[in-house]
Amino acid sequence: MPQSIRIAPSILAADFANLAREIKAIEQAGADFIHLDVMDGHYVPNLTFGPAVIKALRPHTKLPFDTHLMIAPVDPYLEDYAAAGADLITIHTDSSPHLHRSLQKIKALGKRAGVALNPSSSIADIQYVMELVDQILVMTVNPGFGGQSFIKEQLSKIHALRVLADKQSHSIDLAVDGGITFQTAKLVIDAGANVLIAGTAVFTGGEKYYAENMKKLRS
Ligand code: DX5
Ligand code: ZN
Repeated sequence: MPQSIRIAPSILAADFANLAREIKAIEQAGADFIHLDVMDGHYVPNLTFGPAVIKALRPHTKLPFDTHLMIAPVDPYLEDYAAAGADLITIHTDSSPHLHRSLQKIKALGKRAGVALNPSSSIADIQYVMELVDQILVMTVNPGFGGQSFIKEQLSKIHALRVLADKQSHSIDLAVDGGITFQTAKLVIDAGANVLIAGTAVFTGGEKYYAENMKKLRS
């Protein structure tokens, strides 16, 4: 079915010394969500920020916060991210010993639940938890860094997940994250993605290009 394309800029590519200003600028430029990449230096080989920074950013935009948790174990921290102002909490299939229980916990906290699949993860990992999922995130790079190259083998996974998502009785967003450029955006949209998470492609060129960059991604 035709989907309207939404853009979630990843602030990993923003100016970390001016995050409040950056999220205001991308809101004004037409972003749909703010994508927040939380990394722990353990689940992924990089460190970013945690709930204190997210809480500090919360008053600076009305846009929903899409909180991508690349941390393990993830369960002990779900309350902290909910309290910090996350609207959607996305966890990786292998960051919890009991994915179903973790997704139940996110829903019990009153948040939308997202589940992320690494490039090596299989569709079967989420097949039996779909009733708890509001957004599937397909990693089109290995998680941990911005600016990596798109892994094109993920396109068939995106397509199969669109088919699976459309079979559910509730609506499920299908997001892609990593290496999304003006060229790869077309490929993932054609495969069935309806949320584009992009860092480099949105923030390149500075503030005056944000609106144009997002427009190009959507088209
Ligand atoms: C990578 C992150 C991505 C990253 C994407 O682990 O999850 O959100 O910021 O960056 P680009 O768009 O530069 O590939
Ligand atoms: Zn991300």
